Amino acid sequence: MSIHILAIEASCDDTSAAIISNGRVASNITASQAIHSQYGGVVPELASRAHQTNIIPVVDAALNKAGIKVSELTAIAFTKGPGLLGSLLVGVSFAKGLAISLKIPLIEVNHLHAHVLAQFAMEEQPAFPYLCLLVSGGHTQIIKVIEPLKIELLGSTIDDAAGEAFDKIGKMLGLPYPAGPEIDRLAKSGLPIFNFPISKLDGYQFSFSGLKTAVLYFLKDQISRDQDFVEKNLNNLCASVQATIVETLMINLEKASRDHQIKTIALAGGVSANSSLRAKLLETGFEKGWDTYIPPIEYCTDNAAMIGITGYFKFLKGDFASLSTKAEARLPIEEMIN
Ligand code: KG4
Ligand code: ZN
Repeated sequence: MSIHILAIEASCDDTSAAIISNGRVASNITASQAIHSQYGGVVPELASRAHQTNIIPVVDAALNKAGIKVSELTAIAFTKGPGLLGSLLVGVSFAKGLAISLKIPLIEVNHLHAHVLAQFAMEEQPAFPYLCLLVSGGHTQIIKVIEPLKIELLGSTIDDAAGEAFDKIGKMLGLPYPAGPEIDRLAKSGLPIFNFPISKLDGYQFSFSGLKTAVLYFLKDQISRDQDFVEKNLNNLCASVQATIVETLMINLEKASRDHQIKTIALAGGVSANSSLRAKLLETGFEKGWDTYIPPIEYCTDNAAMIGITGYFKFLKGDFASLSTKAEARLPIEEMIN
């Protein structure tokens, strides 16, 4: 019998639906919301409204691309949290409604857990245990993945996430939201000539608020002397900020790999789209004999394929949700698993 799982992801500003057929990605359709760029960040109310408009066409497109009829679906996996409550509610309500009408089971998925398992959307898959550096707009974590449904959080950020640091510093530089991809693009024609502080905390914890403050005061100082400082040095500023963030991430990742004797390393989350981080991981991996896994960008940023892949692992264990399940804006990565 074929197992076709419909997966729904609507935790932030991307509406995504995927079909996972017998554990493989048959389709993965994502509608991004351009509306937020003019506000310099995601506006929650606008995000939930856009999810409501997008969800049916996106699910329809995912079914069509996979060549699956609604009546052939075996189960529905959805993102329970963490994320924006109004956004999550659209996905959860849609998943529940469709599951009830089709009389098929529901599978609740933790969004962070799904980022970590996004590697399994690919043909080449990491062996267990592996370390995953999860870097997104909301999270920065190093996770030991022991089995698909057994993980250990080794360290996370105590303030801003790496993506947030890119976005907030980019805003100071006058770049549009999300600034991460812009900084990446501009850094390509720049050199990391400005030195910014690298936080070094106990264990595998991260901090990016010191960097943000350092850049703010550096810019204030320079602009007081030359009004056009940012404009004249934009590429070098981007390269310097990017190099600092990448180095901060790599220091803890290398420490975790050494301490835990794990050389299988994966990257996940929107910031793993960063070209410098990808290059640095490959370079360090080559030096240290790591087996590295960097998914294509489609599976790094928010997507329903990773929700469906995680849902498939849970399906195989018979881990289904009750109809009273609800969206959770705050949901630690270890919850709902282990
Ligand atoms: O995982 P994601 O799509 O959404 C969540 O936060 O869950 O990550 C979005 C974040 C944003 O902060 C964005 O600026 C950052 O990923 N990002 C990048 C790049 N592409 C996306 N940061 C640096 N370089 C990039 N190329
Ligand atoms: Zn995410």
